[in-house]
Amino acid sequence: MTASANPHDDIATVLITEEAIAARVRELGAEIHAAYPAGEAIVLVSVLKGSLVFVADLMRAIPRNVEIDLMEVSSYGGGSTESSGKVRILKDLSGSIEGRNVVIVEDIIDTGLTLSYLTTYLEGRNPRSVRIATLLNKPARRLVDIPVTWTGFEIPDEFVVGYGLDFGEHYRNLRYVGVLKRELYASIIGEI
Ligand code: PRP
Repeated sequence: MTASANPHDDIATVLITEEAIAARVRELGAEIHAAYPAGEAIVLVSVLKGSLVFVADLMRAIPRNVEIDLMEVSSYGGGSTESSGKVRILKDLSGSIEGRNVVIVEDIIDTGLTLSYLTTYLEGRNPRSVRIATLLNKPARRLVDIPVTWTGFEIPDEFVVGYGLDFGEHYRNLRYVGVLKRELYASIIGEI
């Protein structure tokens, strides 16, 4: 089954509404602001592509100067639903993070393999600190332990899309987080 012309038609249920996301992002922005002394630099490192929408809202919810930098990594093959465990850096940081407080901004933590790799990688660049902010956390599928400082929502083991999260590069532009209809990805997980 292929994606519908209207992405809403491929959603089985809305898991987190646009309003709930907005309210939680405001809280996270205030918490991140409060966690660092005034005058200390904060760099939000957005892990593309999934965190694109989240970081755009989160940075505007933090009432102080923040810098952003972008990394792109890939852990899933295109169209797959399983993490391969291999992390490739497709785009590295543009600037230095030395002496700065880094907040890695993710859309979802699944197995934890991506963040395990990224945290070690960024700590090697001599930042002042490295913490993690994720919109979604799926603890049921964790393979490696990851210390997460800020979590938007803990979610069940469902295949979710929207608010930056994709399936086959679609659905990222949905304003909510929804559960994808199973028939869309059943052939990929070997059900049909
Ligand atoms: C997703 C997500 C995380 C990672 C989480 O990225 O954005 O980076 O997978 O999975 P893990 O905890 O099992 O490592 P993906 O590779 O799908 O790329 P995208 O952000 O470009 O959609």
